[in-house]
Amino acid sequence: MNTVLVGIQWGDEGKGKIVDVLTESHDVVIRSQGGSNAGHTIIIGGEKYVLHLLPSGLLRRGKKAIIGNGCVVDPISLVGEIKQLKRQKISVEGRLYLSDRAHVVLPLHRHMDAAREAAASKSKKIGTTGRGIGPTYQDKINRLGLRLHELLDEKTLAKKIRLRVKEANQICRALGWKTTSAPQMIRDCSRAAKYLKPYICDTVHMIHELDRKGRNLMFEGAQGTYLDVDFGTYPFVTSSNTTTGGACTGSGLPPTRISSVVGTLKAYTTRVGAGPFPTESQVMGDLLHGLGREFGATTGRARRCGWFDAVMTRYACRLNGVTELALTNLDGLDSVGKIKVCTAYRIDGKKLTVPPASAEVLKRVEPVYRTFRGWQQDTSGCRCWKDLPAEAKTYLKVISELIEAPLGIISVGPDRDQTFKKNR
Ligand code: GDP
Ligand code: IMO
Ligand code: MG
Repeated sequence: MNTVLVGIQWGDEGKGKIVDVLTESHDVVIRSQGGSNAGHTIIIGGEKYVLHLLPSGLLRRGKKAIIGNGCVVDPISLVGEIKQLKRQKISVEGRLYLSDRAHVVLPLHRHMDAAREAAASKSKKIGTTGRGIGPTYQDKINRLGLRLHELLDEKTLAKKIRLRVKEANQICRALGWKTTSAPQMIRDCSRAAKYLKPYICDTVHMIHELDRKGRNLMFEGAQGTYLDVDFGTYPFVTSSNTTTGGACTGSGLPPTRISSVVGTLKAYTTRVGAGPFPTESQVMGDLLHGLGREFGATTGRARRCGWFDAVMTRYACRLNGVTELALTNLDGLDSVGKIKVCTAYRIDGKKLTVPPASAEVLKRVEPVYRTFRGWQQDTSGCRCWKDLPAEAKTYLKVISELIEAPLGIISVGPDRDQTFKKNR
């Protein structure tokens, strides 16, 4: 049984928490795209863990974790993350594997990320996480990137860094941005490479062998469907395929070996960074931020908040082939009297039931809302379907019907324990 878990909104749907819950019934957790732009928060018995590149499955002792070929690996920040987990008494030794084909995020990529954002006019800024993701994938697609197997070869590392720095500095000068230099970068990367060496291997072959032996594989998506470089609100997206297909190209597991796809979503919508957001609501933002919720795990930025958007999530279920929904943050709506759900968009006298390709058009659509009576009671203590207030059950059932996917898991709080299956 191989499961792919994807976010079906704009990221931060609670993927880390659901992966942690589902890892109980899986043997290996695999990240197949993105890098340390992700921020997955998991709370276990009150202890908080925030993971950026490390797969959340590592929080379950004895489970294996793989960072696949489709990921971009910042060796310096990864070492920091491994050490942080160690301080929290979790050792990754002997159970973490890094693909030798994954591309390396160098300090110069972070530098270029900042340069491009600074140079862009206000309306063109993406609001990236500043983790060097775009420039690293750009080098990969340009066939100029450095892969993990090369990180281990000191000569190649130094040569490639010098070349990349030279070109990056030409661009920096043209953009009016400060330049960067190679020697310190080479030293820092070489040190990180030595630390990571025992973890680097051929994960593609490893995944095939694990699959042949009948091990259950879990793919931990990062970002969300509308940050996908093809299907997201381009250009306000990340630089990888965050949808189901990315799990295959980013790991080497063929599509025919995927058994189920869990679409993770919040009971409302959030987005961090720039770009269109039809159901954005100041009222929801004030409410959730007032409760101390919805601040980004990677950059600490306040997330933009809004009502549930059934147009985007239905389309996302189709794109990803979602077989089951995992809905989180139901408790975020506990105090709301009237809850709105967007069922269609209107633009220039026309009705839209699928998201348009153009971010400019999406920016102009007017959401058509259906309003639900809120339950106005605390759901954080609910532990099964029948514990939920009647209005909450109605809300969940209608969402599931609107987006044409069955509800499997419900989460009513950040802790591992505040999660249950619908049929229980
Ligand atoms: P991810 O990037 O998809 O893994 O999501 P994040 O961890 O960035 O953001 C989700 C946030 O919601 C985190 O702070 C989680 O601890 C929190 N969370 C997840 N599920 C629930 C829930 O059901 N209720 C509440 N109150 N918080 C939740
Ligand atoms: P998780 O895995 C939410 C957003 C950034 C920005 C855009 C591009 O925690 O859900 P990038 O640094 O990737 O080039 O930024 O994508 N973004 C995320 N938003 N959750 C994430 O990851 C994100 N990763 C990137 O805010 O708008
Ligand atoms: Mg996150």
